[in-house]
Amino acid sequence: MYPDEIIQKLKKYEKVVLLTGAGISAESGISTFRGARGQWEKVDPMKLATPESFAKDPKFVWEWYEARRRQLALAEPNAGHEILAWMEEFFPQVTLVTQNVDRLHQKAGSRHPIELHGSIWMVRCVGGCGEWEDRHELVNLPPKCPHCGALLRPGVVWFGEGLPPEPWAEAEKAARNCDAFLIIGTSALVYPAAALPEGPMRLGKLVIEINPEETPLSGQVTLSIHAGAGEALKSLREKLIKNEVD
Ligand code: OAD
Repeated sequence: MYPDEIIQKLKKYEKVVLLTGAGISAESGISTFRGARGQWEKVDPMKLATPESFAKDPKFVWEWYEARRRQLALAEPNAGHEILAWMEEFFPQVTLVTQNVDRLHQKAGSRHPIELHGSIWMVRCVGGCGEWEDRHELVNLPPKCPHCGALLRPGVVWFGEGLPPEPWAEAEKAARNCDAFLIIGTSALVYPAAALPEGPMRLGKLVIEINPEETPLSGQVTLSIHAGAGEALKSLREKLIKNEVD
């Protein structure tokens, strides 16, 4: 799966960036957004994941998010999440950047994942009281702010909204300075997240993509592994450890 010379290079590198998308959580039973059984096949994201749709029908939007929250509350990290957390022990400096809102990376032990699209476990007061974590089952949808009575919204990034500036700046900086960049389980269709590997690719850095399907990045990366994250990352860990001992 991995040519030896790539493993030899990778094991010497210090600064590694990992970019993940919904595909890393697929093996935890969480459906991805795009593709045959994807969430956006069942419901139009423009009716659900935009500020306009929330303004129009906050109850409808919240019903969908609360159903996802209940599903995610039961989900466990899989081998892929665990191996990415292990990489923080193996490499001197790992920056994990995720588009996922499920917090399964944290549950697997990743120390400081950069959440580009927020978290489904955060709620934010539209009246400006701030945002905070709330994992309770939310009844009486849409929920209201306990401080001012305004609507609460999910603490995720919707289409048409900018990314939170600090996480984005941190992700960009890590991408600029990395020795190697791994892209795992993202269709690489949603910007600006999909643009993060562009700098490293342009500079000829080692960029590895793991995805069972082709993506717009597949032809541009150093190595494209067409396999599920669990299998591909198990194999990568074995190679890195084996070469450590050799
Ligand atoms: P997508 O649903 O667009 O893509 C998921 C990718 O995971 C696809 O390319 C699949 O081929 C791949 N995949 C499926 N099973 C896999 C497995 N076992 N191992 C590895 N890869 C697998 O999800 P994202 O790229 O994360 O944004 O989507 C980006 C953003 O679009 C999301 O954060 C969300 C969505 O709309 C917002 O809601 C703003």
